[in-house]
Amino acid sequence: KRIAVLYGGKADEHSISCISAAGVLAAMDDERFEAVLIGITKQGEWLTGCTDPRDFDFEQQALPVVSAGPGTSHVVLDMALGADGFFARDEHSGAEGQSALTSLGHIDAVLPILHGPYGEDGTVQGLLEMLGVPYVGCGVFASSACMDKHFTKILLKSAGIPVAPGITLDARPYAAADTFAANGDDFITKVRAAGLHYPLFVKPSRAGSSFGVTKVEREGDAAELAAAVREASRHDWKVLVEQGVDAREIECAVLAPRADRDILASWPGEIVLDRRESGNDQFYDFDSKYMDSDASHVQVPADLPGEMLDRVRETAIKAFKAVDGTGMSRVDTFVGADGSIVVNEINTIPGFTPISMYPKAWEATGISYGELITALIDGVLE
Ligand code: DAL
Ligand code: MG
Repeated sequence: KRIAVLYGGKADEHSISCISAAGVLAAMDDERFEAVLIGITKQGEWLTGCTDPRDFDFEQQALPVVSAGPGTSHVVLDMALGADGFFARDEHSGAEGQSALTSLGHIDAVLPILHGPYGEDGTVQGLLEMLGVPYVGCGVFASSACMDKHFTKILLKSAGIPVAPGITLDARPYAAADTFAANGDDFITKVRAAGLHYPLFVKPSRAGSSFGVTKVEREGDAAELAAAVREASRHDWKVLVEQGVDAREIECAVLAPRADRDILASWPGEIVLDRRESGNDQFYDFDSKYMDSDASHVQVPADLPGEMLDRVRETAIKAFKAVDGTGMSRVDTFVGADGSIVVNEINTIPGFTPISMYPKAWEATGISYGELITALIDGVLE
């Protein structure tokens, strides 16, 4: 079967997507599947013939970028042509003033390994629906609902699933340095009126991999809060201010390759930070996630009583159902010392890098990385 793997993408998480795609391709059963690689640049061009993401250097943490080079072709999604929807236009061989269309041939299914907006948010999923090509993962609604943390929380709350206390604000009036000085009091008043206790987490509503997230430790430091809002608003004008919960972050991998079969939940795992002593009690931010692989390790199952692990699994499945999930998702929760479980977010295309929780959690639960990819693809082919 010919599987188009989409990677890269327009989002800030472009480079993470490239590393995820490299992991997925390495695990893909090449006797059953032929991967057709389509890289999307940060500018949104669709390209074939890019550097194979598997060539990227994990050891050096060299973050790759999909870019056009010799031999690359632009891909045109030709909806009018229907079934064999993917065509490559070879700009080099095209006749003068005209590009030659080269068919990529029949594509049996698409595996979108794209993180963040324009990939994980329902846009690509909508395009694939229009083309009538089966694709792995959540559909249009679940993808958009989970990309926007504000709306994820609304859905979870209405399903009776606890979420972190917080408010959503339009940061546009506060984003520029001078406007926060003018309007900042109003902002701080809103935070106070919501009864939020410090520390606060300020985050963009639609982003991933901790991009734009800042922890604000103390009340009264308006400058710190202003800087946090500005940082978040670089990624999204819709900004969440959430109360930090005193809890451990426990993540659960959900797998539902076939819509008509059971939804499976892995053993919940925990990212254990190994470098707390470095004087940095920062949260698990972008650098500790991807740039410093010695800073943490994944532990599955998390060191929690069996009854708590079961409750996290049940909560993850309930959350997945609440957003109408299909295929896969990683549900991130906060588990308090008092046994409370709060759902923080749902990642519909979770990280697939060599250090990522999703494949590791399944491995620890008895499904190897290769079996996982096969199950996900087979689920949409049948
Ligand atoms: N958004 C990143 C890739 C994750 O959730 O794993
Ligand atoms: Mg997360």
